[in-house]
This record gives sequence, structure tokens and C-alpha cells, in this order.
Amino acid sequence: MPSLVGKEVGPTGYGTMRMTWNPQPPSQETCFETLNTALELGANFWNGGELYGTPEHNSLHLLNQYFTKYPENAEKVVLSIKGGLKKGELVPDGSEENIRRSVDESLRVLDGKKKLDIFECARQDAKTPVENTIKVLAEYVKEGKIGGIGLSEVDAETIRRAHKVHPIAAVEVEMSLWSTDILENDIAKTCAELQIPVIAYSPLGRGVLTGAVTSMADIPEGDFRRHMSRFQEENFQQNLKLINAVNDLAARKGVAPAQIALAWIRSQSGKPGLPTIIPIPGGTTKDKVIQNMSGVQVLTDAELAEIDALLKVHTVAGPRY
Ligand SMILES: NC(=O)c1ccc[n+]([C@@H]2O[C@H](COP(=O)([O-])OP(=O)(O)OC[C@H]3O[C@@H](n4cnc5c(N)ncnc54)[C@H](OP(=O)(O)O)[C@@H]3O)[C@@H](O)[C@H]2O)c1
Repeated sequence: MPSLVGKEVGPTGYGTMRMTWNPQPPSQETCFETLNTALELGANFWNGGELYGTPEHNSLHLLNQYFTKYPENAEKVVLSIKGGLKKGELVPDGSEENIRRSVDESLRVLDGKKKLDIFECARQDAKTPVENTIKVLAEYVKEGKIGGIGLSEVDAETIRRAHKVHPIAAVEVEMSLWSTDILENDIAKTCAELQIPVIAYSPLGRGVLTGAVTSMADIPEGDFRRHMSRFQEENFQQNLKLINAVNDLAARKGVAPAQIALAWIRSQSGKPGLPTIIPIPGGTTKDKVIQNMSGVQVLTDAELAEIDALLKVHTVAGPRY
């Protein structure tokens, strides 16, 4: 079992983002049922953010409500929260004043119902050296207010610089069958060398690797994916080739595409030269979580070779952001 901040976590975690950052958020009842299902099926590493919603209602408010209702689950969950943006804006601010604001606000909203096991800045602030930000967070660890420090969307050099100031608990980066960058740049290699687990976010390619998206019509109006380069018409037509190939492979194997996508990530975890990698799929209903947590857990060498060949033929068009 992988371990984060000294606690064992399941090989697959859970991302709560779309429970509060979503044009049509699910009801609280649905969220609680989904969170309970994730935990029951072994996804005890949960990811959320101060930025996932508004200052008045984001992951932290939902999690306060959840752990108020289910206090017995608080110790079972390892919680990682992203913050470090200006309040109510998607603008990184790694200054001491804003980091303190963000951590203090996260702790205030959680209100002791759940420990803040890992705090991470959602993005690095180009104006503040990462060392300064990590020094402030290290004081919070020393005071016992947070359990550890994570990083999100950083390059290999930033990981090394941050880790020198304080051991880094986890590095969160996009990784999926349609975002394999970290295997090709130095990020996975650096995390393996420094023994830092990688948290693979958007492991289902923001939903396209689930069989649920076969044309742009499947993406609702107002959904943020409609603004992303990979979802623009020309790119999307190219990207459908990989999506369809994964769907075909899943159909041949009699499993769901999401199960192939997640098993592929888990199969990379701990391979020679690679770190522990924990995917954190979203999915705001019980049924989606059951599908994501079940089925094939790792792929055979032959299956991995087949997928490598697909990735070579069907290259993804458009940058991640
Ligand atoms: N650090 C960062 O910058 C960053 C960025 C993005 C995400 N994240 C983290 O990563 C987590 C997951 O990322 P994500 O939500 O972007 O992408 P994802 O997990 O790759 O895909 C989520 C999408 O797939 C759908 N889905 C999930 N399971 C499904 C299934 N079995 N069948 C059909 N559809 C399914 C979801 O539907 P519904 O949600 O509608 O149910 C949603 O539309 C987030 O919750 C967040 O914690 C981090």
C-alpha cells in the first residue's frame, strides 16, 4: 500500500473537485453517498481545494459538512487541499501573507472536523521564490497545523528546490493516457529519485477516457472543457482517435474504458525509475465511483505494449492548458 504523510492510502484516491466546482453541482446527499462509497472501496486519499468553488462554498465547506455527519471517517481519510491563490481568484500568490490567509482560512472552514493532512499551492507564484512559500508552510507543519506539504503543477527544478527546504509529501500533476508528459520530462524521474509520491490528477482525461464522450455534443454548454485547446473542433477530431481506440480496447476486454485508463496509471506506479503514482479520478455519483474502483487493477505487459503502440499512433493534439 502506498503511504502519504506516514499513513497508508489505497492505490486509487478520489478527487472531489466537481462536487463544488461544477455548473450543475450534485446534491449534498449524492456527494455524501459518493464519498462514502469511495471510502468503503478503499479510496481514502481525497483531494480538494479552496479554489474549487467560491470563498463561501468550496471543497472545505462540503468536507466540513461531511465530517460533521460522519466524524468516525475523519481519521480514515488522508486529505490534501490546494490553496495559495488570491481569495476568490484564480491568481497564484505565494507571499507569506496570502499563504497564511489560505491555510488559516482552510483550517477555519474545516473547523477541526478533519485534519489538513497535506496543503499544497495550486500553482506556483512566479513572483515568489518557492523556497519562501515552503518556509512558511514548514512552520505550519512544525506547529502541527498541517500534516505535510504538497506541490501542484510544478517542474522538476521547483520540486528539487522545494524539497531542500522541507520534505515534500506529494507532487500533483496531470497524468492520463492523453497526458503522458510527466513520463517524458523529468518530473516522474525526479519524484522517483527523491521518493516523492505522484498524485495523478485528471486521470480520466477530464472524462474523455470513460466512454462518455464520443463527440463535442457530449460536453455540456458552459462546461470549462469547451474552452480548452484539446476540445476545439480540429484538435478534438484528432483526439477522438485515441479516445475511440481506448473504447475499442476496453470493449474487446469486456471492461469499462475508465478501468483501462486507471489500470494503466497504476501499472506505471513503482516501475523501475518511476515513483509511486496514485490516480485521483473524479466521478460525482456512486455508480461512477464503483466502476472506477473495480475491474482490472493492473495491466499485463502485453496489454501495456498494445497501449504504448496506440499512444504512438494516435498522438494528442493541443496543449493540456
Ligand atoms: N492540480 C490541479 O491543477 C488539478 C486540476 C484538475 C483536477 N485536479 C484534481 O483531480 C481530480 C480529478 O480530475 P478531473 O475531475 O479533472 O478529471 P477526471 O477524473 O479525469 O474526469 C472527471 C470526469 O469524468 C467523469 N467520470 C468519472 N468517472 C466516470 C465513469 N466511471 N464513467 C463516466 N464518467 C466518469 C466525471 O463526471 P462527473 O464529475 O460529472 O460525475 C467528470 O466529468 C479533481 O477532482 C481534482 O481533485 C487537480
